[in-house]
Amino acid sequence: MLVDDEPPAVPHRRLQPGTLVIASHNEGKVREIRALLAPYGIEPVSAASLDIPEPVETGTTFFANAELKARFSADLAGIVALADDSGLCVDALGGDPGVYTADWAETPNGRDWTMAMEKVESALAAADPDAGRDAHFVSVLSLCWPDGHVESFEGRAEGHLVWPPRGTIGFGYDPMFMPNGYDQTFAELDPAEKNRISHRAAAFAKLVAACLAP
Ligand code: IMP
Repeated sequence: MLVDDEPPAVPHRRLQPGTLVIASHNEGKVREIRALLAPYGIEPVSAASLDIPEPVETGTTFFANAELKARFSADLAGIVALADDSGLCVDALGGDPGVYTADWAETPNGRDWTMAMEKVESALAAADPDAGRDAHFVSVLSLCWPDGHVESFEGRAEGHLVWPPRGTIGFGYDPMFMPNGYDQTFAELDPAEKNRISHRAAAFAKLVAACLAP
């Protein structure tokens, strides 16, 4: 008997070998995404190298902003674009800074990550002490083709926040984020290890399963 109230599952679109634009101006993200793509015969170029500017992130979710960024670069470059929208969600702060993680670093002279981490720490000090220091990173990776087709995947890394910040590798909030099961922050871990367990790696594993795996 036919059950007709459920739509048929739409197959994911496959990503073919070739050039792809990484729709980010964040050097840390570009470095990590390049390393993730390396085994798959895809030649990444950065948005900056194609003179593609950064769009204004008007979305209120990680999915909306990742798709907006991927669409913007795919339209301008005329090739497939891969964007990441990510952020730090702190339990005691009701999930803040979340989608606004980069905004917490904004100053008139650019982004200041030390100041951003201090803001998070001050907010935590003012929060309910029973709420603890658990936090997670979220990454949504969106692939957008020049015809507008989009595929998006979410990954998470669970952990807790340490103070003072520790380590000099990585970027953004890495020095205060200790992933579960480790006694080093993301900024102390070997980059290859971070790229194995990170939120971005978790999203990328879903992308591989859907769009790249044979
Ligand atoms: P957006 O995706 O451009 O909105 O920026 C997200 C911000 O979240 C980045 O600028 C970083 O500060 C932070 N973030 C995202 N992923 C990571 C990470 O892997 N390590 C440290 N900070 C991150």
